[in-house]
Amino acid sequence: MIGIVGGSGDFGRGLAQRLRRIGEDVVLGSRTPRDDLVANAEACRLSEVVFFSVPPAGVEAMARELADDLAGRIVVSVAAPVVFLDGKPGAAPGSLSLAELTALEAPGARVVAGFHTVSARVLAEPEAPLDEDVLICGDDAEAKDVVAALADRLVEGRAVDCGRLEVARWLETLTAVLLNVNRRYKTNAGVRVTGLPE
Ligand SMILES: NC(=O)c1ccc[n+]([C@@H]2O[C@H](COP(=O)([O-])OP(=O)(O)OC[C@H]3O[C@@H](n4cnc5c(N)ncnc54)[C@H](OP(=O)(O)O)[C@@H]3O)[C@@H](O)[C@H]2O)c1
Repeated sequence: MIGIVGGSGDFGRGLAQRLRRIGEDVVLGSRTPRDDLVANAEACRLSEVVFFSVPPAGVEAMARELADDLAGRIVVSVAAPVVFLDGKPGAAPGSLSLAELTALEAPGARVVAGFHTVSARVLAEPEAPLDEDVLICGDDAEAKDVVAALADRLVEGRAVDCGRLEVARWLETLTAVLLNVNRRYKTNAGVRVTGLPE
């Protein structure tokens, strides 16, 4: 089972749709369970892999609150420190990445960061190919392999291992870069890393 904390959001809903299409069981979590949404804690408890998909301002407190429920789970931090200044997308990263904050607040979680460059809008269009790579990083090699294998099945490109969890400090800001690209070209861009061995 794959859980999504913040599963009522655009990213969580789009991702859930894509995961179900490749045959995965998905449970959506929310602070206010209703309809197809269970409590975030329950979504964590039911799952081996949990996508942590809440806005940046909610990450630290949510990770603290769910620490026990996240213990032992592979937790994929997709959160990005995006801010809008005068309506224009930018990034306001802290000294630690949101993924590192999650790992600090939920020390039993096996945190992998990734998917920051995958647009919720593209996820929401089931027929649109995900013509891109997924950049991931983390300190737990086994957890990273599990997330990479999942990402490989979701996108036309591949999972690219960008290294240790600290690299999330820079990966997370790429969301803001792509939002600016999307504005400029009126599209939903992703990234491809070239020059990698097969
Ligand atoms: N959208 C994209 O294209 C994209 C791409 C890459 C990465 N990301 C990142 O992925 C994350 C989710 O994106 P999104 O667009 O789905 O975000 P969102 O819609 O703003 O939030 C997702 C869900 O999080 C819950 N939430 C809201 N405020 C919260 C808080 N203070 N504490 C805990 N939970 C809260 C809400 O669910 P409930 O009210 O039901 O609890 C909300 O539906 C963000 O960090 C974003 O930066 C987004």
